[in-house]
Amino acid sequence: MTDYELRIAGPDDVDGARSVMLDTFYRVFDCGYRPDWHADVIDLEGTYLRQPHHALFVAVTGGEVVATTAVRAAAPNHPPHPRWLVDRYPAATTAQLFRVYVRPEHRRRGLARALVRRAVEFASAQPVYRDIYLHTDTRVPGAEAFWRSMADLVHDPRDGGADCSRTVHFEIPLVAALTPAQVLAPA
Ligand SMILES: CC(C)(COP(=O)(O)OP(=O)(O)OC[C@H]1O[C@@H](n2cnc3c(N)ncnc32)[C@H](O)[C@@H]1OP(=O)(O)O)[C@@H](O)C(=O)NCCC(=O)NCCS
Repeated sequence: MTDYELRIAGPDDVDGARSVMLDTFYRVFDCGYRPDWHADVIDLEGTYLRQPHHALFVAVTGGEVVATTAVRAAAPNHPPHPRWLVDRYPAATTAQLFRVYVRPEHRRRGLARALVRRAVEFASAQPVYRDIYLHTDTRVPGAEAFWRSMADLVHDPRDGGADCSRTVHFEIPLVAALTPAQVLAPA
């Protein structure tokens, strides 16, 4: 981890972060860019850098962004996700984690864990949030194991048998109140 700088993204980080995200869509998820799912990636500055209570975190090495994690106020979408999840995690009070992506050659070095911790500290310092929520596609290798190591399971549709969805839902407790200055200080 000593070779990596973790920071809240500024305008100079946006192109590198977008590259990590698009490469993940095309090379890992195999779905490519989907405007209905990925609009934030086209306007990272507008979505994460200029909105209060939203943030984008990056890990940088050798001047290159190699990992990302984003936070924004958002509820799960219904459909496809169950209505009760939207009621439990309304947009006004839910910090949803997005774009937790690490370039393959930089994985298993603790980058995602460290970025998510930064994001959790950031969300916890925003008085508007009551919950931190995320969901993940269990078909992506490593994704479910990673989140089970970091977060509390809320809903696994596979448990019910009838629902064939491969998306599992998690929450992460808010941490004790931190000031914005503490959140932005170097690790
Ligand atoms: C999932 C992902 C973000 C993990 O990133 P990472 O930086 O390699 O994760 P970390 O090194 O911080 O791992 C933390 C812990 O998660 C678990 N974990 C992470 N990847 C794992 C894997 N492939 N298999 C099993 N456990 C895994 C381990 O418990 C790990 O701790 P350890 O290395 O001490 O055993 C990365 O594999 C990735 O970008 N995948 C593609 C995109 C994606 O699916 N993102 C998540 C959904 S948004």
